[in-house]
Amino acid sequence: QLAQSFDGTIDLAIIGGTGLYTLDCLEPIAIIPKMETPWGKTSSPITISRVKSDESEHFHVAFIARHGVDHEFPPTRVPFRANIAALKNLGSKAILSFSAVGSLQPEIKPRDFVLPQQVIDRTKGIRESSYFNDEGLVGHVMFGEPFSNSFAEYINRFKDILENPESEEPCLLHYNRELTVICMEGPQFSTRAESKMYRLIGGDVINMSVIPEAKLARECEIPYQMVCMSTDYDAWRDEEEPVSVQTVIGNLRNNAKNANRLASKIILEMSQELPEFLRTGDGLKDAMKFSISTKPE
Ligand code: ADE
Repeated sequence: QLAQSFDGTIDLAIIGGTGLYTLDCLEPIAIIPKMETPWGKTSSPITISRVKSDESEHFHVAFIARHGVDHEFPPTRVPFRANIAALKNLGSKAILSFSAVGSLQPEIKPRDFVLPQQVIDRTKGIRESSYFNDEGLVGHVMFGEPFSNSFAEYINRFKDILENPESEEPCLLHYNRELTVICMEGPQFSTRAESKMYRLIGGDVINMSVIPEAKLARECEIPYQMVCMSTDYDAWRDEEEPVSVQTVIGNLRNNAKNANRLASKIILEMSQELPEFLRTGDGLKDAMKFSISTKPE
C-alpha cells in the first residue's frame, strides 16, 4: 500500500508520452491521486519513486502520464497547465519529457531518438498555453531557447546506451543546437503538402505535445528537455504510405524500451551526483520575476 502524499521535494520530474508508463530503475514510494490544481486535475496520478540502487534515498523522481494512464486525453485536451503546476508544486528541479514524433529528415530513422533545441508552434491557439492570460497580471517570459541546453548536453553524454551495437535494439541519438520540433494541433496527421512545408520551414521532427508543455515549464522556471522518439516518416516521402496509427504503435514498444534504458541511466547518474543545472536552476531562477510588466499596486 503506497502513501497518497509526499512531503519531500522532487529532483526530477518525468512526463511519459504515449507508450511510456514506467521506468525499471525506480521503486514507487507514493502515488498521489490525480492532483487538483487551480487549473484543473492532472492527466494522471503522479507516482513518486526512489531510485532502487540509491541507499541514502535522497533522490526522488515524479512520473506523470501526459495522455492519462488509459491514454484518454487527445493532445488538444491534455490538462497541460495542471500537469506542469503539479510538478512545480512538488518542487521538481527539472522536467524530462518524452514524446513520440514523426521524422521530417531522411537521417532520422523511425526508432531513432532526437534532442531538439528549437520549436515551431503550429498549434491552432486553442490550447491554454500560459498562466498569464488573466487580466491583472501581464507576463512575457523569454522563450527564444525553449529547451535546456545544459540538460540536453547532459543527456547526450549517455548516447552510447542507445547507440552501442551490442545493445538489444541500437538506435541513434541525434543532437545539435539547430534541431527543430514542429508542434501541430492534430489529432489528424499532416497532409503530404503540409509535411513537405514543415521540411521547408526547418522542421526535423513533428509531434502534437511540446506546445504548451515547454512554454508552461518555462513560466514555472523549470529547466525542460524533451526526448523525441521517432516512430515514422510522417507524409513527405511520396514513395511511401503516409503515417498511420499502426505505424506509430508498431515502433512505440521498441522506443519505450530504449527510453527506459536512457532515462534509467540519467536517473542513476543524477542520483549519484546532482548536475550543476539541477542545483542552480539553469539560469531560470526568477525568469518570471523579471517578465512581469504590470505596474505594482
Ligand atoms: N507523433 C508521432 N508521429 C507523428 C506524426 N507523424 N505527426 C505528428 N505527431 C506524431
